[in-house]
Amino acid sequence: MGKSFKICLLPGDGIGPEVMAQAVKVLRAVKARYDVTFECGEALIGGAAIDATGTAFPPETLAAARESDAVLLAAVGGPKWETGEPGAPRAEEGLFAIRKELGLYANLRPVHAYAPLVDASPLKPELVRGADVLIVRELTGGLYFGKRDRAYGVPGAGPNGAPGQYAYDTMEYAEYEVERIVRMAFELARGRRSRVHSVDKANALGVSRMWREVARGIAAEYPDVEFRELLVDNAAMQLMLDPHQFDVIVSENTFGDILSDEAAVLSASLGMLASASLGEGTALYEPVHGSAPDIAGRGIANPIAQILSVEMMLRYSCKMQEAADAIAQAVERVLDAGYRTADIADAHTPANKVLGTAAMGDKITEYL
Ligand code: IPM
Ligand code: MG
Repeated sequence: MGKSFKICLLPGDGIGPEVMAQAVKVLRAVKARYDVTFECGEALIGGAAIDATGTAFPPETLAAARESDAVLLAAVGGPKWETGEPGAPRAEEGLFAIRKELGLYANLRPVHAYAPLVDASPLKPELVRGADVLIVRELTGGLYFGKRDRAYGVPGAGPNGAPGQYAYDTMEYAEYEVERIVRMAFELARGRRSRVHSVDKANALGVSRMWREVARGIAAEYPDVEFRELLVDNAAMQLMLDPHQFDVIVSENTFGDILSDEAAVLSASLGMLASASLGEGTALYEPVHGSAPDIAGRGIANPIAQILSVEMMLRYSCKMQEAADAIAQAVERVLDAGYRTADIADAHTPANKVLGTAAMGDKITEYL
Protein backbone atom coordinates (compact mmCIF):
# COMPACT_ATOMS: atom_id res chain seq x y z
CA MET A 1 0.00 0.00 0.00
CA GLY A 2 1.55 3.32 -1.11
CA LYS A 3 1.65 6.56 0.79
CA SER A 4 -1.24 8.99 0.69
CA PHE A 5 -1.17 12.74 1.33
CA LYS A 6 -3.92 15.24 1.81
CA ILE A 7 -3.01 18.48 0.02
CA CYS A 8 -4.87 21.75 0.51
CA LEU A 9 -4.70 23.81 -2.69
CA LEU A 10 -5.08 27.59 -2.42
CA PRO A 11 -5.01 29.05 -5.94
CA GLY A 12 -5.84 32.60 -4.79
CA ASP A 13 -5.82 35.51 -7.21
CA GLY A 14 -4.33 36.87 -10.42
CA ILE A 15 -2.02 34.35 -12.10
CA GLY A 16 -2.51 32.07 -9.06
CA PRO A 17 -5.10 29.74 -10.59
CA GLU A 18 -3.17 29.54 -13.90
CA VAL A 19 0.10 28.47 -12.31
CA MET A 20 -1.65 26.23 -9.78
CA ALA A 21 -3.21 24.25 -12.64
CA GLN A 22 0.32 23.43 -13.85
CA ALA A 23 1.39 22.29 -10.39
CA VAL A 24 -1.62 19.97 -10.31
CA LYS A 25 -0.54 18.45 -13.65
CA VAL A 26 2.85 17.71 -12.13
CA LEU A 27 1.27 16.19 -9.02
CA ARG A 28 -0.81 13.90 -11.24
CA ALA A 29 2.31 12.83 -13.10
CA VAL A 30 4.10 12.09 -9.82
CA LYS A 31 1.13 10.02 -8.72
CA ALA A 32 1.27 8.03 -11.96
CA ARG A 33 4.99 7.25 -11.57
CA TYR A 34 5.39 6.71 -7.85
CA ASP A 35 3.46 4.66 -5.36
CA VAL A 36 1.58 7.61 -3.90
CA THR A 37 -1.83 9.24 -3.84
CA PHE A 38 -2.60 12.91 -3.39
CA GLU A 39 -6.00 13.79 -2.11
CA CYS A 40 -6.31 17.42 -3.26
CA GLY A 41 -8.98 19.79 -2.02
CA GLU A 42 -9.31 23.46 -2.96
CA ALA A 43 -10.04 26.29 -0.54
CA LEU A 44 -10.41 30.05 -0.77
CA ILE A 45 -7.88 32.67 0.26
CA GLY A 46 -7.13 36.31 -0.54
CA GLY A 47 -9.26 38.33 -2.92
CA ALA A 48 -11.11 35.24 -4.14
CA ALA A 49 -12.14 34.58 -0.54
CA ILE A 50 -13.16 38.23 0.02
CA ASP A 51 -15.42 38.08 -3.03
CA ALA A 52 -17.04 34.83 -1.93
CA THR A 53 -17.21 35.26 1.84
CA GLY A 54 -16.27 38.85 2.76
CA THR A 55 -13.04 37.84 4.46
CA ALA A 56 -9.56 37.01 3.10
CA PHE A 57 -9.11 33.97 5.33
CA PRO A 58 -12.40 32.17 6.03
CA PRO A 59 -12.45 29.72 8.96
CA GLU A 60 -13.17 26.84 6.54
CA THR A 61 -9.82 27.50 4.89
CA LEU A 62 -7.99 27.35 8.20
CA ALA A 63 -9.76 24.10 9.04
CA ALA A 64 -8.94 22.60 5.63
CA ALA A 65 -5.28 23.65 5.98
CA ARG A 66 -5.00 22.23 9.49
CA GLU A 67 -6.31 18.82 8.52
CA SER A 68 -4.01 18.56 5.48
CA ASP A 69 -0.51 17.12 5.29
CA ALA A 70 0.62 20.18 3.32
CA VAL A 71 -0.72 23.41 1.87
CA LEU A 72 0.14 24.49 -1.66
CA LEU A 73 -0.57 28.17 -2.19
CA ALA A 74 -0.24 30.19 -5.39
CA ALA A 75 -0.62 33.96 -4.88
CA VAL A 76 -2.99 36.56 -3.48
CA GLY A 77 -3.75 40.21 -4.11
CA GLY A 78 -4.79 42.61 -6.83
CA PRO A 79 -6.06 46.14 -7.45
CA LYS A 80 -9.65 45.03 -6.93
CA TRP A 81 -8.97 44.60 -3.20
CA GLU A 82 -6.92 47.75 -2.75
CA THR A 83 -9.79 50.18 -2.54
CA GLY A 84 -8.13 52.37 0.06
CA GLU A 85 -11.40 52.40 1.98
CA PRO A 86 -10.65 52.38 5.72
CA GLY A 87 -11.43 48.97 7.19
CA ALA A 88 -11.99 47.25 3.84
CA PRO A 89 -10.52 43.71 3.81
CA ARG A 90 -7.23 43.31 1.97
CA ALA A 91 -6.27 40.17 0.05
CA GLU A 92 -2.84 39.97 1.70
CA GLU A 93 -4.45 39.61 5.12
CA GLY A 94 -5.26 36.04 4.09
CA LEU A 95 -1.59 35.33 3.55
CA PHE A 96 -0.49 36.82 6.86
CA ALA A 97 -3.29 35.02 8.68
CA ILE A 98 -2.47 31.57 7.35
CA ARG A 99 1.23 32.04 8.11
CA LYS A 100 0.41 33.12 11.65
CA GLU A 101 -2.31 30.54 12.33
CA LEU A 102 -0.17 27.64 11.14
CA GLY A 103 2.86 28.97 13.07
CA LEU A 104 4.95 29.09 9.87
CA TYR A 105 7.87 31.07 11.23
CA ALA A 106 10.54 29.86 8.80
CA ASN A 107 10.37 30.68 5.13
CA LEU A 108 13.04 28.92 3.07
CA ARG A 109 13.76 30.56 -0.27
CA PRO A 110 16.42 28.78 -2.30
CA VAL A 111 17.91 30.86 -5.10
CA HIS A 112 20.24 29.41 -7.62
CA ALA A 113 21.56 30.35 -11.00
CA TYR A 114 20.33 27.84 -13.56
CA ALA A 115 23.13 27.32 -16.09
CA PRO A 116 20.88 27.74 -19.15
CA LEU A 117 19.48 30.99 -17.74
CA VAL A 118 22.77 32.66 -16.95
CA ASP A 119 22.48 34.85 -20.05
CA ALA A 120 18.88 35.73 -19.29
CA SER A 121 19.93 37.50 -16.09
CA PRO A 122 20.68 41.20 -16.47
CA LEU A 123 23.82 40.59 -14.39
CA LYS A 124 27.13 39.57 -15.96
CA PRO A 125 27.19 35.80 -16.61
CA GLU A 126 30.50 35.27 -14.78
CA LEU A 127 29.02 36.91 -11.70
CA VAL A 128 25.85 34.83 -11.74
CA ARG A 129 27.16 31.43 -12.80
CA GLY A 130 27.07 28.87 -9.99
CA ALA A 131 25.46 31.20 -7.43
CA ASP A 132 23.51 29.22 -4.84
CA VAL A 133 21.94 30.95 -1.87
CA LEU A 134 19.31 29.91 0.64
CA ILE A 135 17.43 32.80 2.17
CA VAL A 136 15.85 31.93 5.50
CA ARG A 137 13.24 34.58 6.14
CA GLU A 138 11.51 34.93 9.50
CA LEU A 139 7.83 34.90 8.58
CA THR A 140 5.56 35.53 11.53
CA GLY A 141 7.13 38.48 13.35
CA GLY A 142 8.43 41.96 12.74
CA LEU A 143 6.73 44.84 11.00
CA TYR A 144 4.06 42.73 9.34
CA PHE A 145 2.67 41.59 12.67
CA GLY A 146 3.53 44.38 15.10
CA LYS A 147 1.27 46.99 16.67
CA ARG A 148 -0.05 49.37 14.06
CA ASP A 149 -2.56 52.09 13.51
CA ARG A 150 -3.68 54.71 11.07
CA ALA A 151 -5.58 57.74 12.20
CA TYR A 152 -7.23 60.58 10.34
CA GLY A 153 -7.66 64.24 11.25
CA VAL A 154 -4.87 64.16 13.80
CA PRO A 155 -4.00 67.72 14.96
CA GLY A 156 -0.65 68.86 13.56
CA ALA A 157 -0.09 65.80 11.39
CA GLY A 158 -0.83 67.66 8.18
CA PRO A 159 1.36 70.26 6.46
CA ASN A 160 1.76 73.61 8.27
CA GLY A 161 0.23 72.34 11.50
CA ALA A 162 -3.07 71.39 9.92
CA PRO A 163 -4.83 68.16 10.91
CA GLY A 164 -3.69 65.16 8.85
CA GLN A 165 -3.10 61.46 8.79
CA TYR A 166 -0.86 59.58 11.15
CA ALA A 167 0.24 55.95 10.81
CA TYR A 168 2.70 53.55 12.38
CA ASP A 169 3.84 49.94 12.24
CA THR A 170 6.08 48.38 14.86
CA MET A 171 8.97 46.00 14.39
CA GLU A 172 8.73 43.63 17.33
CA TYR A 173 10.63 40.45 18.08
CA ALA A 174 10.86 38.22 21.11
CA GLU A 175 14.13 36.48 21.85
CA TYR A 176 12.69 33.01 21.21
CA GLU A 177 11.54 34.05 17.75
CA VAL A 178 15.06 35.09 16.81
CA GLU A 179 16.57 32.02 18.38
CA ARG A 180 14.46 29.47 16.52
CA ILE A 181 14.92 31.03 13.08
CA VAL A 182 18.67 31.49 13.49
CA ARG A 183 18.97 27.93 14.74
CA MET A 184 17.06 26.72 11.69
CA ALA A 185 19.52 28.60 9.47
CA PHE A 186 22.50 26.93 11.15
CA GLU A 187 20.94 23.47 10.87
CA LEU A 188 20.28 24.04 7.17
CA ALA A 189 23.80 25.37 6.61
CA ARG A 190 25.23 22.10 7.93
CA GLY A 191 23.59 20.30 5.01
CA ARG A 192 25.01 22.85 2.57
CA ARG A 193 28.29 24.81 2.52
CA SER A 194 28.34 25.59 6.25
CA ARG A 195 28.19 29.37 6.20
CA VAL A 196 25.54 31.63 7.72
CA HIS A 197 25.17 35.35 7.13
CA SER A 198 22.89 37.00 9.64
CA VAL A 199 21.47 40.19 8.15
CA ASP A 200 20.21 43.06 10.29
CA LYS A 201 20.33 46.82 10.73
CA ALA A 202 22.09 46.91 14.09
CA ASN A 203 23.48 50.39 13.49
CA ALA A 204 19.94 51.79 13.53
CA LEU A 205 17.46 49.42 15.16
CA GLY A 206 17.16 48.11 18.70
CA VAL A 207 15.48 44.95 17.43
CA SER A 208 18.55 44.29 15.30
CA ARG A 209 20.91 44.75 18.25
CA MET A 210 18.98 42.10 20.14
CA TRP A 211 18.95 39.93 16.98
CA ARG A 212 22.77 40.16 16.82
CA GLU A 213 23.24 39.19 20.42
CA VAL A 214 20.94 36.19 20.11
CA ALA A 215 22.46 35.14 16.77
CA ARG A 216 25.96 35.23 18.25
CA GLY A 217 24.83 32.96 21.05
CA ILE A 218 23.45 30.42 18.60
CA ALA A 219 26.54 30.70 16.40
CA ALA A 220 28.69 29.68 19.35
CA GLU A 221 26.83 26.35 19.42
CA TYR A 222 27.82 25.68 15.80
CA PRO A 223 31.61 26.05 15.69
CA ASP A 224 31.64 23.99 12.49
CA VAL A 225 29.55 26.62 10.67
CA GLU A 226 31.13 29.90 9.62
CA PHE A 227 29.19 32.88 10.93
CA ARG A 228 29.16 36.37 9.46
CA GLU A 229 27.11 39.47 10.21
CA LEU A 230 26.02 41.99 7.63
CA LEU A 231 23.95 45.15 7.67
CA VAL A 232 20.99 44.87 5.37
CA ASP A 233 21.91 47.77 3.11
CA ASN A 234 25.35 46.28 2.57
CA ALA A 235 23.84 42.80 2.12
CA ALA A 236 21.66 44.14 -0.69
CA MET A 237 24.77 45.42 -2.45
CA GLN A 238 26.89 42.34 -1.74
CA LEU A 239 24.23 40.09 -3.30
CA MET A 240 24.79 41.86 -6.59
CA LEU A 241 28.56 42.39 -6.23
CA ASP A 242 29.57 38.90 -5.19
CA PRO A 243 26.70 36.43 -4.68
CA HIS A 244 29.16 33.54 -4.35
CA GLN A 245 30.15 34.63 -0.86
CA PHE A 246 26.71 33.57 0.37
CA ASP A 247 25.43 30.16 1.43
CA VAL A 248 22.62 30.68 3.96
CA ILE A 249 21.27 34.15 4.70
CA VAL A 250 19.01 34.53 7.73
CA SER A 251 17.01 37.67 8.36
CA GLU A 252 13.87 39.11 9.84
CA ASN A 253 10.59 39.27 7.93
CA THR A 254 10.80 42.55 5.99
CA PHE A 255 14.52 42.35 5.18
CA GLY A 256 14.09 38.74 4.02
CA ASP A 257 11.16 39.73 1.84
CA ILE A 258 13.15 42.45 0.11
CA LEU A 259 16.41 40.53 -0.24
CA SER A 260 14.69 37.51 -1.77
CA ASP A 261 13.12 39.55 -4.57
CA GLU A 262 16.53 41.08 -5.21
CA ALA A 263 18.23 37.68 -5.18
CA ALA A 264 15.74 36.46 -7.79
CA VAL A 265 17.80 38.37 -10.34
CA LEU A 266 20.41 35.60 -9.95
CA SER A 267 17.82 33.09 -11.17
CA ALA A 268 16.87 35.43 -14.03
CA SER A 269 13.27 35.90 -12.84
CA LEU A 270 11.05 35.93 -9.79
CA GLY A 271 9.06 33.36 -11.75
CA MET A 272 11.73 30.77 -10.87
CA LEU A 273 11.66 31.04 -7.07
CA ALA A 274 9.78 28.63 -4.83
CA SER A 275 9.52 28.66 -1.07
CA ALA A 276 8.72 26.42 1.87
CA SER A 277 7.19 27.82 5.03
CA LEU A 278 7.85 25.56 7.98
CA GLY A 279 6.83 25.77 11.58
CA GLU A 280 4.86 24.03 14.24
CA GLY A 281 2.29 22.16 12.18
CA THR A 282 1.27 21.73 8.56
CA ALA A 283 3.82 23.29 6.21
CA LEU A 284 2.98 25.59 3.33
CA TYR A 285 4.61 25.88 -0.08
CA GLU A 286 4.31 28.90 -2.32
CA PRO A 287 6.16 30.77 -5.04
CA VAL A 288 8.06 33.88 -3.97
CA HIS A 289 6.29 35.92 -6.64
CA GLY A 290 2.92 37.60 -6.22
CA SER A 291 -0.34 37.46 -8.18
CA ALA A 292 1.01 39.59 -11.08
CA PRO A 293 -2.35 41.22 -11.93
CA ASP A 294 -0.76 42.89 -14.96
CA ILE A 295 -0.39 39.57 -16.77
CA ALA A 296 -3.22 37.58 -15.15
CA GLY A 297 -5.48 35.71 -17.57
CA ARG A 298 -3.08 36.07 -20.49
CA GLY A 299 -1.60 32.60 -20.24
CA ILE A 300 2.00 33.83 -20.22
CA ALA A 301 2.93 33.53 -16.54
CA ASN A 302 5.88 31.34 -15.62
CA PRO A 303 4.59 28.28 -13.70
CA ILE A 304 8.06 27.07 -12.69
CA ALA A 305 8.07 28.69 -9.22
CA GLN A 306 4.75 26.96 -8.49
CA ILE A 307 6.04 23.63 -9.82
CA LEU A 308 9.22 23.95 -7.76
CA SER A 309 6.99 24.61 -4.76
CA VAL A 310 5.59 21.13 -5.38
CA GLU A 311 9.18 19.90 -5.46
CA MET A 312 9.82 21.43 -2.02
CA MET A 313 6.55 20.01 -0.73
CA LEU A 314 7.54 16.49 -1.79
CA ARG A 315 10.95 16.98 -0.22
CA TYR A 316 9.96 18.43 3.16
CA SER A 317 6.40 17.27 3.85
CA CYS A 318 6.13 13.99 1.90
CA LYS A 319 9.76 12.86 2.31
CA MET A 320 9.76 11.79 -1.34
CA GLN A 321 13.32 12.81 -2.24
CA GLU A 322 13.41 10.82 -5.45
CA ALA A 323 10.24 12.39 -6.84
CA ALA A 324 11.42 15.84 -5.72
CA ASP A 325 14.75 15.33 -7.51
CA ALA A 326 12.86 14.19 -10.60
CA ILE A 327 10.88 17.46 -10.70
CA ALA A 328 14.02 19.56 -10.24
CA GLN A 329 15.71 17.62 -13.05
CA ALA A 330 12.70 17.89 -15.34
CA VAL A 331 12.77 21.68 -14.93
CA GLU A 332 16.50 21.79 -15.68
CA ARG A 333 16.15 19.58 -18.75
CA VAL A 334 13.29 21.67 -20.11
CA LEU A 335 15.47 24.76 -19.71
CA ASP A 336 18.44 22.94 -21.25
CA ALA A 337 16.27 22.10 -24.25
CA GLY A 338 15.70 25.83 -24.77
CA TYR A 339 12.10 26.10 -23.58
CA ARG A 340 11.29 29.38 -21.85
CA THR A 341 8.39 31.42 -20.64
CA ALA A 342 8.42 35.09 -21.65
CA ASP A 343 10.02 36.29 -18.39
CA ILE A 344 13.12 34.11 -18.83
CA ALA A 345 13.43 34.29 -22.61
CA ASP A 346 16.77 35.70 -23.63
CA ALA A 347 16.53 38.23 -26.42
CA HIS A 348 20.03 37.30 -27.60
CA THR A 349 19.31 33.61 -27.97
CA PRO A 350 17.05 33.07 -30.98
CA ALA A 351 17.03 29.32 -30.25
CA ASN A 352 14.78 29.95 -27.23
CA LYS A 353 11.36 28.38 -27.66
CA VAL A 354 8.90 30.59 -25.81
CA LEU A 355 5.95 28.76 -24.27
CA GLY A 356 2.82 29.91 -22.49
CA THR A 357 1.87 28.86 -18.96
CA ALA A 358 -0.03 25.69 -19.87
CA ALA A 359 2.47 24.57 -22.51
CA MET A 360 5.33 24.99 -20.01
CA GLY A 361 3.35 22.91 -17.49
CA ASP A 362 2.85 20.23 -20.12
CA LYS A 363 6.51 20.26 -21.13
CA ILE A 364 7.77 19.81 -17.58
CA THR A 365 5.24 17.02 -17.01
CA GLU A 366 6.40 15.35 -20.22
CA TYR A 367 10.07 15.50 -19.14
CA LEU A 368 9.28 14.09 -15.71
C1 IPM B 1 6.07 37.43 -0.35
C2 IPM B 1 5.11 38.50 -0.75
C3 IPM B 1 4.17 38.81 0.39
C4 IPM B 1 5.01 39.18 1.60
C5 IPM B 1 3.16 39.90 0.05
C6 IPM B 1 2.25 39.48 -1.09
C7 IPM B 1 2.35 40.34 1.22
O1 IPM B 1 5.80 39.63 -1.16
O2 IPM B 1 5.64 36.31 0.01
O3 IPM B 1 7.27 37.67 -0.40
O4 IPM B 1 5.47 40.31 1.69
O5 IPM B 1 5.25 38.33 2.43
MG1 MG C 1 7.86 39.38 -1.31
